[in-house]
Amino acid sequence: MQVPYYYHALINKTTMNKIVIIPLIGLLFVFSTYSAFAHSYGAISPASIPAIYLNTKQRPMTIAQPPNTLSQKAKIHLGKQLFEDTNLSKSGEMACSTCHQASMGFSDGRDFSLDNQGTPLPYNTPSIQYVAFNYYFGWTARFPHLQEHLDALMTNPKLMDRNWPELSQKIKQNDIYVQLFNNAGYDEISRTTISDAIIQYEYSLAKPSRYDLYILGDKQQFSEKENLGYSLFKEFGCSSCHQGKNLGGNLRQKFGVMKSYFNEHNKIEERDLGYYTTTLKDEDRFYFRVPSLRNVTNTAPYFHDGSAKTLAMAIEIMFVYQLGIKPSDTDINLIESFLHTLEPVE
Ligand code: HEC
Ligand code: HEC
Repeated sequence: MQVPYYYHALINKTTMNKIVIIPLIGLLFVFSTYSAFAHSYGAISPASIPAIYLNTKQRPMTIAQPPNTLSQKAKIHLGKQLFEDTNLSKSGEMACSTCHQASMGFSDGRDFSLDNQGTPLPYNTPSIQYVAFNYYFGWTARFPHLQEHLDALMTNPKLMDRNWPELSQKIKQNDIYVQLFNNAGYDEISRTTISDAIIQYEYSLAKPSRYDLYILGDKQQFSEKENLGYSLFKEFGCSSCHQGKNLGGNLRQKFGVMKSYFNEHNKIEERDLGYYTTTLKDEDRFYFRVPSLRNVTNTAPYFHDGSAKTLAMAIEIMFVYQLGIKPSDTDINLIESFLHTLEPVE
């Protein structure tokens, strides 16, 4: 996976090849240099991770080569045009940006976006701003690669309703696009190059936040409240699930660890069954991807079903159903302050 170059620039300022040794449950876990990058962004204090999570597959993030900036910029520019172009859909009415709106943290503020028939989609539209750092895609993490996700989306009759040859043909008839593909250094217009440009654009959205600067050593970035909120986030164990560079995006976990979330709210819909809908295995029932918390302050409503209308509600639900703790208003408030440090800064 290519990491956006903004991060590359930042990361060079940090000490690479750190070795961190953490005593945990009487054992010494040696985190070697599987990825200096992951360390610098080790959002969590590793000592707070329950041992069970240490078994999860840790995939090293590769650090991108510094991009050839001219063609990189041209790819991102092209990707943005495609992302915002309603001609990507057969109906001519639906662009990626219809649902992933820049002004709303690249989601759309609705519980459910509408498909091209006007019917609500089964899942809430997630932000795609930090998709570059997710390991798997979709609420239930059923897509291992962005390409597969894009294939599904393009060919879905209720969404883009396209096939790749037809779409490539249409784009080839547009002189402006032909020029843009040339500028980007692509030698053809095809599934591969259209997807690459869109994905490069998505990666380019992953801007650093104050949190990143803090992790890189600039402790002045956090106010006292934010500092306290960050401590609580780690101490209560939010970071056992919302972990790593993206504070999420790398684990699947049950929604309702301590008690069932769904029975107490609405009747259980198919979407609530989580990863079970893909595997039909009982052990996957109610399992969802732990979402990234980056930019979460801008992407209400929350959860796969949009059932938490405010961030404070989402935090409280997490305390009760994931941790079995009744939080005070102050706890919620401080953690919410901390989450503001995850907003992108230009
Ligand atoms: C009609 C609304 C809608 C449109 C149009 C749309 N999306 Fe989405 N997008 C969604 C929803 C809903 C999900 C969650 C799907 C799921 O979990 O199965 C999603 C998920 C995603 C994800 C995965 C995010 C993650 O972290 O898992 C990416 C990437 C994405 N969309 C990119 C795109 C691109 C690129 C386009 C245009 C080609 C597009 N979307 C068009 C609604 C939309
Ligand atoms: C046991 C794992 C686990 C723990 C612990 C946990 N979360 Fe979550 N979190 C999840 C999962 C899974 C979801 C997705 C729920 C869904 O799909 O609807 C989620 C969703 C969220 C969301 C909504 C994100 C969005 O984009 O909709 C927020 C905010 C959040 N968690 C914050 C927290 C905070 C704050 C804590 C600590 C008080 C915490 N979480 C503890 C697993 C966990």
